[in-house]
Amino acid sequence: MNIPPIDLKTQFKLVQKDILKNIRAILSEQKLILGQYCTRLEDAIAQYAGVPSAISCANGTDALILSLMALDIKEGDEVITTPYTFFATASSIVLMGAKPVFVDIEKESMNIDPGLIERAITPKTKAIIVVHLFGKLCDMDRISATGKKYGIPVVEDIAQSLGSRNDRGMSGSFGDIAALSFYPTKNLGGIGEGGMVLSKRADLGEKVKKLRVHGMGSVPYYHEMVGINSRLDEIKACALVVKFPHLETWNQKRIGNARFYNKRLKDLPVVLPHIKDDFSYIAHQYVIRMQERDRLQEFLKQKGIMTGIYYPLPLHLQPCFASFGYKKGDFPVAEEASLTSLALPVYPELKKAEKDYIVASVREFFRG
Ligand SMILES: Cc1ncc(COP(=O)(O)O)c(C=O)c1O
Repeated sequence: MNIPPIDLKTQFKLVQKDILKNIRAILSEQKLILGQYCTRLEDAIAQYAGVPSAISCANGTDALILSLMALDIKEGDEVITTPYTFFATASSIVLMGAKPVFVDIEKESMNIDPGLIERAITPKTKAIIVVHLFGKLCDMDRISATGKKYGIPVVEDIAQSLGSRNDRGMSGSFGDIAALSFYPTKNLGGIGEGGMVLSKRADLGEKVKKLRVHGMGSVPYYHEMVGINSRLDEIKACALVVKFPHLETWNQKRIGNARFYNKRLKDLPVVLPHIKDDFSYIAHQYVIRMQERDRLQEFLKQKGIMTGIYYPLPLHLQPCFASFGYKKGDFPVAEEASLTSLALPVYPELKKAEKDYIVASVREFFRG
């Protein structure tokens, strides 16, 4: 068998007729950027996430940058975040001239440890960025309470968590502002780059709307602030509009696959993700942890099963962040996770026979 880490071709077959129809209409109309499909997508996501403002942009990295720009993060500021995430979460802070102040993660959830945030706060702390890693909600009750106590805004990086929720709300609706990615491999993945900034605060939403078009307001070529060019193309937005109604089903299938693995692997000497009986984890990635991670990855590769390592080097140890002075041992939980994590394929289109084969192969490794 040959099992890729994600199967975008099969997913595309389901939606291609409608997407291609829309693309033809867009090309004949020649309304190519920030048109009706962007607006439809923004309205749909705002309603789904339960926030008044959703502003599309070019990609998830820009969504983070725009969020920090809207919060006026600047040189000399500090922004607290996790060292165990995709690079953009922290590079967006550095690009604003600010310092990423890392806080270690919780062992079980692999999300930022809410109990460690408070002691990292200084008078320079101007924001906290949390990441719902692998689609698993952070402890937003505690994090929001800490933000409120110190008057520090909370940014949610929801690149991996569109649709994660608890009984208090959806990911993207807890913090002051949230950054979403439509990178093709995300749970709602586009046909190219794409992103969105969500906010429950009207003032931040208005600001982002200007910042993504060079700081222009309603009067063309009058610039109220210095922004960037981060607009979404209609062709990309129309594909997301077609895919969006499938998101809940796809997320449910991902969760189902994750539960299947948990059930079939529970007696093995590996740490499995903790899955509650709700939507607080939407299985963007299904990550198991074990000491012999590299050997298992190679074994599965020989069996035709492609896995991923998210992430092999925590951000405080990245060479480009050396000037911040972090060293090995600073965040032991994140460092351990980077050495032991392995993501098995969990995409919605996985067939039963493929899942059985993956389980059988993992079990064979441990028998071996
Ligand atoms: C946690 C996280 N943050 C930010 C991003 C950046 O998104 P993009 O690739 O759309 O710029 C990604 C995805 O790549 C991500 O996984």
